[in-house]
Amino acid sequence: MKSEILNALRTTGGYVSGQELCRRLGVSRTAVWKEIRQLREDGYEIEAIQNKGYRLCRVPDSISEAELKSRMETVWAGQHLIHLDTVDSTNDYLKRMAEEGAPHGTLVVAEYQTKGKGRRGRSWVTPPGSTIAMSILVRPELEPEKVSMMTLVAGLSVAQSVREITGLEAEIKWPNDVVVHGKKLSGTLTEMSMEMGAVHYLVIGTGINANVMEFPEELQSTVTSLELELGAKADRGALICAYMKAFERNYERFMQSGDMSFLLEEYHGLLANRNREVRVLEPGNEYNGIAEGINSRGQLLVKKEGGTVTEVYAGEVSVRGIYQYV
Ligand code: BTN
Repeated sequence: MKSEILNALRTTGGYVSGQELCRRLGVSRTAVWKEIRQLREDGYEIEAIQNKGYRLCRVPDSISEAELKSRMETVWAGQHLIHLDTVDSTNDYLKRMAEEGAPHGTLVVAEYQTKGKGRRGRSWVTPPGSTIAMSILVRPELEPEKVSMMTLVAGLSVAQSVREITGLEAEIKWPNDVVVHGKKLSGTLTEMSMEMGAVHYLVIGTGINANVMEFPEELQSTVTSLELELGAKADRGALICAYMKAFERNYERFMQSGDMSFLLEEYHGLLANRNREVRVLEPGNEYNGIAEGINSRGQLLVKKEGGTVTEVYAGEVSVRGIYQYV
């Protein structure tokens, strides 16, 4: 009910009478009043004026279920959502839910992860309550060898939503890191469950450094946050909802062809590595070249000295900038 009240107050912009809220929600005046009181306790500033009704004046930095539900503009992505204060890892939590039959599009967000996981076995450590740690569950009909492309779909969606909500010039470092001014803002870890050679489900987990002002010294030259870039706190709720909307749209385009064909242009438009010199680190094989872009299978095309173009698959390979992070 909280999310419906928030939604009504938000979409109206001005005052909504208590009577109107009762009508829309199909509940009594007392029930509406109780919810308003609880919202105030959660940090929402709601003005109440006799004969006019209620008006939303200020919203706390919240990613609660009610807050996200009241702002979600999707058909399926994030429509079923869970907010947790503390969790081991949103990816692990969602995998457990997936095993129990959670629906396609389920979103888990957490304020704090005790065992956040990064790519290649690394850990993902972030302070409590100020960043974004989220995972979405999808159940695509897709061959396992195509799964790594889904991580590009997520990276593209993060970059687009960061641009939309903050105005920052977010770009993609292939395959899915999102960077601002050459520093890492966000990373994605996609995990797959297979059954009899087919994809059972995917959990796509994304961490975005949102309202973090300080990083350990060894990371300071390569990592950034929204707050550092903006000089102000970012609206985490708006960003999560924008990400869900972008992800839903991009996912559907991706599934139309089962590859990156329909997303190629948008991805290229945001690809930070494009036409830059990169170093490719494959197990047992390292070389430099110019990153020309991606093909429809999501592979990075790297032109080596001498002119041969190699197709780099987003698996165990790492691609670095020669002079800096990108
Ligand atoms: C990377 O190494 O760049 C990927 C980082 C992915 C971190 C996110 S935070 C939410 C989700 N849960 C995890 O344990 N990891 C991902």
